[in-house]
Amino acid sequence: MKKRIAILASGSGTNAQKLIEHFSESAEIEIALVLSNNPDAFVLQRADNYEIPTHIFTKEEFYNSEEIVGLLKKMDIDFIVLAGFLWLIPKNILAAYPNRIINIHPAILPKFGGKGMYGDKVHNAVLASGETEGGITIHFVNEHYDDGEYIYQGRYKIEKGDNLEMIKFKGQQLEHQHFPRIVESVLKKIKK
Ligand code: GAR
Repeated sequence: MKKRIAILASGSGTNAQKLIEHFSESAEIEIALVLSNNPDAFVLQRADNYEIPTHIFTKEEFYNSEEIVGLLKKMDIDFIVLAGFLWLIPKNILAAYPNRIINIHPAILPKFGGKGMYGDKVHNAVLASGETEGGITIHFVNEHYDDGEYIYQGRYKIEKGDNLEMIKFKGQQLEHQHFPRIVESVLKKIKK
C-alpha cells in the first residue's frame, strides 16, 4: 500500500505541482488529496489536471468541526504537507497527525516567520532588512506559526540591486529543488 499525502495550499501551487510530478511514478508514495481554503486557488486546477481529488473548506469547517479530520481519515491519508497554506493548523488535526505535518516557508526561520508572514510579505521583509542571504525552511508543524522542528534549511545570496521578483525566484528555485526530496525522505521514515 502506498503512503498517502494530502496537500493543503491556498495559492498558485507551484510546490504542490512539483510534489505531484515527483511522486507520480512512485511505487511507495502518492499525492492523494489536495485541500484549499480558497476556491479560486490555482492549485485546485493543477490537482484536477492530474485527476487528484480536491476539497475546498471554510474557516468554520476547518476550526469548528471534525469534518477535515474525518475526510483525511476516510481518504486514508498518512501525512499532510502544507505548500503555501495560510492558516494555523487546529489542535484536532495536529492530534490526528502527530509529527506527520510539514510546512515550507520562504525564509531562514526563525527570522521572517510568524502570523501573517506569507509569500511576498516575507520576501519584502527580507529585502527591507538588508540581509545578504535569503533562504527557505522546511519544518514540522505545531500549534504555533512557523515554529516546529526544522528538517531542512537552504540559502541563496542576495546581491545588491536584487528586487522582489529576483529574490522570489531564487527562493522558489530552492523550494522546487529540495521540497520533493525532503518530503520523500521524511515519508520513508514513517509507517503506513
Ligand atoms: C511558497 O514560497 C511557500 O514557501 C510559501 O508560500 C509559497 C507558495 O507558493 N509559504 C509561506 O509563506 C508559509 N508561511 P506556491 O503556491 O507557488 O507553491
